[in-house]
Amino acid sequence: MSKKEIVMSGIRPTGFLHLGNYFGAIRNYVRMQDDFECYFMVADLHSLTTHPDTKELKANVHRVLAENIACGLDPEKAALYCQSHVYETSELYLYLNMLAYKGELEKTTTFKDKVRLQPENVNAGLLTYPVLQTADIVLHRARYVPVGKDQEQHLEMARNFVNRFNHRYGDVFPEPIAFNYNDELVKVPSLDGSGKMSKSENQLATLYLADDDELIRKKVMKAKTDSGPIEPNSTKPDYIENIFALMKLVSSPDTIKKFEDDYNNCVIRYGDMKKQLAEDMVMFITPVREKTNSILQDEVYLKKVMDLGAEKARASAKATMQLVREAMGFNY
Ligand code: TRP
Repeated sequence: MSKKEIVMSGIRPTGFLHLGNYFGAIRNYVRMQDDFECYFMVADLHSLTTHPDTKELKANVHRVLAENIACGLDPEKAALYCQSHVYETSELYLYLNMLAYKGELEKTTTFKDKVRLQPENVNAGLLTYPVLQTADIVLHRARYVPVGKDQEQHLEMARNFVNRFNHRYGDVFPEPIAFNYNDELVKVPSLDGSGKMSKSENQLATLYLADDDELIRKKVMKAKTDSGPIEPNSTKPDYIENIFALMKLVSSPDTIKKFEDDYNNCVIRYGDMKKQLAEDMVMFITPVREKTNSILQDEVYLKKVMDLGAEKARASAKATMQLVREAMGFNY
């Protein structure tokens, strides 16, 4: 059997995941773990660039691991590990830093954004964030990186660093590219009718995997509607389209068809539709929330998961670093 292609991605330990994270990323990871050799990493070192205080780190790392496992990531299939547990990352980061130019790093969009957000802490780690991300990826000689559009520039920089390395020292790394199953690009609109669900925008318009049943109902019932269509088969306003889009994520085809028909026949009752959506959301989120909570109570299990993940990641990292040191001439 031919060796599986390698997939690598990083997840920032910034706490609570929402429905957009699930349908945009995690669901893809769950599918990939059967098709590829997968490395999914909690980017705890990256978080130091913006959060030097480490008091909350342990709880945040535990939560992001527990939520991902509750969503279906399987520590037996994928390597699920913490960045700080794989010391080879730091070594490779150092070598790659010698191939990264100040000018190109300063031009990075995410860097410029952070400078604006935290002018009092423009540290060198922030500047070289894309270099560390490159080290994460190429440490496993990964080719596919499942990330969203916002990471495209970092991946382009990763390809530049990789090409410089390969050109100078010999071919060690494949060029990493963004990868997602293209049939999975679903829209997860926010509940206030504007944009998509996100952590930073309106909290009441975003459904979190940790929300309890009452909060889910309250958020869904607040979604914007109107008095309904007057003409049969009219086009839907954006905010109504959004409610249908959310329903398509969690409700049965029969349910969706009933409300589509009601809409087209001008007899739709948005109150009923939102009640149905709320109940279907509760049915979807409750098992994930409960599983997350039970995992979070079991620190021994979480430690085991991290140990197993680190062991797999280190084995892969070790092999790569031998090639790297050899290629660079550290063989005296
Ligand atoms: N920068 C990524 C983000 O903000 C997180 C990340 C760190 C990452 N290392 C990575 C993503 C390696 C992909 C591959 O979401």
